[in-house]
Amino acid sequence: MLSENTIKIVKSTIPLLVSAGTDVTEHFYNRMFTHNPELKHIFNMSNQGNGKQAFALFNALAAYAQHIDNLEVLTSALNRINHKHVSLNILPEHYPIVGHHLIETLRELVPNTFTVEVEEAWTQAYQLLADICITQEQGLYRSNAEKRGGWTGERPFVIAEKNQESELVTSFILTPADGGAVAEHLPGQYLGIKVKPKGMDYTEVRQYSISDKANPSQYRISVKKEMGSPLGLVSHYLHGLSEGDEIEVYPPAGDFYLQLTNKPVVLISAGVGLTPMMSMLETLVQAQLTHSVHYLHACENKKQHSFIERVAKLCEQHKALSAHTWYNEVPDTSNHHAQKNSQHKEYHGLMALTQIQKELPIKEGDFYLCGPNGFMSFIKQQLMLLGVEPAQIHYEVFGPHQDL
Ligand SMILES: Cc1cc2nc3c(=O)[nH]c(=O)nc-3n(C[C@H](O)[C@H](O)[C@H](O)COP(=O)(O)OP(=O)(O)OC[C@H]3O[C@@H](n4cnc5c(N)ncnc54)[C@H](O)[C@@H]3O)c2cc1C
Ligand code: HEM
Repeated sequence: MLSENTIKIVKSTIPLLVSAGTDVTEHFYNRMFTHNPELKHIFNMSNQGNGKQAFALFNALAAYAQHIDNLEVLTSALNRINHKHVSLNILPEHYPIVGHHLIETLRELVPNTFTVEVEEAWTQAYQLLADICITQEQGLYRSNAEKRGGWTGERPFVIAEKNQESELVTSFILTPADGGAVAEHLPGQYLGIKVKPKGMDYTEVRQYSISDKANPSQYRISVKKEMGSPLGLVSHYLHGLSEGDEIEVYPPAGDFYLQLTNKPVVLISAGVGLTPMMSMLETLVQAQLTHSVHYLHACENKKQHSFIERVAKLCEQHKALSAHTWYNEVPDTSNHHAQKNSQHKEYHGLMALTQIQKELPIKEGDFYLCGPNGFMSFIKQQLMLLGVEPAQIHYEVFGPHQDL
């Protein structure tokens, strides 16, 4: 437990963390990677380059300081961080290293505010937060290891099959190299995939959502070639691998998953954000629940539309399922009106929920979102306007988390 005085001091230094600019975060990561280069094996070095991750740690610490006397507020945020850490195999021995570089960064950059008293308070507070994370993460590692087919740390998997799903997305069927079973995942969860692309000094880990229902002998992931400049490192490396090649896999993790209840379900995705939805859809169709399932997807055009035939097949197998696809590119022949085809309907332009609002279970449904942040914010706004409550909306960000 922290003393009243420690809590007071930590709270008084919130502005220090909130205002931590690029200089502070850069100093922290440079310092850490210079003294502990082995951590480059764990951190996403592209995120270091594109600046996406830099503020997450400081923002999380600021939120922690804000709620230090009522940590329950942070339960769901911490749960998400713990799952992300587990997908990267973050271990108890890593915490003192990060803690040390945090304290040293603050001491070096803001010596006047960072007095001995403040340092002592923050050392205690960081230790408390680290202990909470370590306990939660050890619990998740244990529960993964105890499952049938479960394991801890990395495990070699063979690429048993590669299937091109659309212009940019390829699926990989992964089976354990040891021939054993795999741990069951919850639909929506992801795997940590660890690779060492040619010419790189360090390994890189990325998360990929499992894109199929649970199967005791294999996982399927579906990876989009990231076409930004520079080209996505791991996605291109994976696309270049062949059937029979091996990669290292960490067990399933993630706090975004389908709750199998008796409520109607609405799955909404854009682009490669459809991967967790495919796992949820396959699971829902297999369960043959009677409540309605709506699958809404947005993508550029038909060439970039993955799993188009599989979704049509699932609609045939499950009468309570309806699918709606919005294509952003308007084909020359289009008259801009919705085209209808029994359970599978097509639209052009941006996804507009008003087009199907009468069909949606606004009051009682669970809504699951995955896609670019801009898309998810746009959809969340539309849902709220229709009267959906924030508690009904669940979402996954394919990168460092951001609130919508
Ligand atoms: C929970 C979760 C689930 C996910 N599920 C999936 C999934 O099912 N399918 C899928 O395809 N992806 C998924 N992702 C995304 C995936 O983890 C990777 O982020 C994605 O494949 C890109 O990785 P990459 O190594 O190819 O690209 P990176 O090399 O990480 O590059 C990412 C971006 O940063 C830019 N960049 C890189 N270096 C620099 C630099 N030095 N300066 C400026 N910009 C730079 C690149 O141009 C690119 O736009 C998921 C992510 C999360 C967090
Ligand atoms: C109490 C201490 C810590 C806090 C508050 C914290 C907080 C966070 C947050 C908020 C994220 C982003 C989560 C998301 O995107 O959803 C994150 C990701 C991450 N954390 Fe931590 N973390 C802590 C300790 C550690 C430690 C000890 C390590 C290991 C050395 C670590 C390594 C990472 C990595 C590798 C990522 C993924 C981002 C990337 O690769 O760029 N964290 N952490």
